[in-house]
Amino acid sequence: MKQTNMRVLGIESSCDETAAAIVENGRVIESNVIASQVDLHAQFGGVYPELASREHVKAVHATVNEALQQAHMGLGDLDGIAVTRGPGLAGSLVVGVNLAKGLALSTDLPIVGVNHLEGHLYSAWLYPADSKPTPEPKFPLVALLVSGGHTELILMRGHLQYQLLGGTSDDAAGEAFDKVARLLELGYPGGPSIQKAAMQGNPRAFNFPKARLNDPWNFSFSGLKTAVLRTVEDFKASKKQLPTADIAASFQAAVVGALFEKTIAAAKEFGAIEIIVAGGVSANKALREAFRSQTEFRVHIPHISLCTDNAAMIAAAGYRHFMADEFSALDFDVQANWALATNA
Ligand SMILES: Nc1ncnc2c1ncn2[C@@H]1O[C@H](COP(=O)(O)OP(=O)(O)OP(=O)(O)O)[C@@H](O)[C@H]1O
Ligand SMILES: [Mg+2]
Repeated sequence: MKQTNMRVLGIESSCDETAAAIVENGRVIESNVIASQVDLHAQFGGVYPELASREHVKAVHATVNEALQQAHMGLGDLDGIAVTRGPGLAGSLVVGVNLAKGLALSTDLPIVGVNHLEGHLYSAWLYPADSKPTPEPKFPLVALLVSGGHTELILMRGHLQYQLLGGTSDDAAGEAFDKVARLLELGYPGGPSIQKAAMQGNPRAFNFPKARLNDPWNFSFSGLKTAVLRTVEDFKASKKQLPTADIAASFQAAVVGALFEKTIAAAKEFGAIEIIVAGGVSANKALREAFRSQTEFRVHIPHISLCTDNAAMIAAAGYRHFMADEFSALDFDVQANWALATNA
């Protein structure tokens, strides 16, 4: 499929954000609308699946309409529809997928079901229509995908080519942030609240383990989480005031150190010329600083607003599938568990 200006409508509903966006040529954001349920789920300290799907049903039509309106477009201006097929909560995914199918059927537009993680990676290609183009990532590259459910190092030799170099053997980085935030009685979601607390703390106050596994490309955060738990318990037992900011800063430094060091080492080992850092945790300021302060590799990190779940990234990934003549038949189903990359 080749055409000069291809406008893709992206729809995302895999977790707790209902999102719709229009992206031109896989890069230019014409609109990007997100209806977040985060405040609703905060009372449960995590995402409540049944509630999430009901909220998606309520929000999805208005979100797509808003994306069209903000881009000053109608359905007739679109060239394709991309929707998150998985991984995620099945009941949530189905809401976006069904609307996307209905729109494709009524407009005759091509449709493609996209892997949500692939979306996170393609967020590195995006920039807003009213700003200067950002440099386009070049292959081969190593991508660090760090989100609420995933921590993976992926080698990309070209578009849509994913080789898994390593992943986490226990918690995802974002999950570790969320769990440690709960231990420290900071708010949900944990990443932003730990980052905020860490700003007042000393990252060298506690020497938490950085989890260097024997396998050079795998991560582990459970030992770190346990070390934080022990520290918190020791302070509580001795009735001393908990140095929350210092613990948050030291924990954040340990996570950032492990993510940064392994990514740089993998990029060297596998001959990458550039690096992508994407997914919710890539919004973390300390992590962004760590990658920005090295000069060996050009590093692409999406704008903070594009790190967590959004539909522009789904449209961006969908565009690459359309360019490769990859479409989905209208009877495709959601895929709640769906690995993006394999180590083949
Ligand atoms: N500033 C930050 N620092 C660290 N972590 C952050 C920051 N902002 C968000 N996060 C973390 O990012 C995660 C959410 O990211 P994202 O929305 O990509 O995850 P998800 O969609 O739930 O999971 P996945 O993409 O793996 O399916 C949460 O765990 C959150 O704590
Ligand atoms: Mg995500």
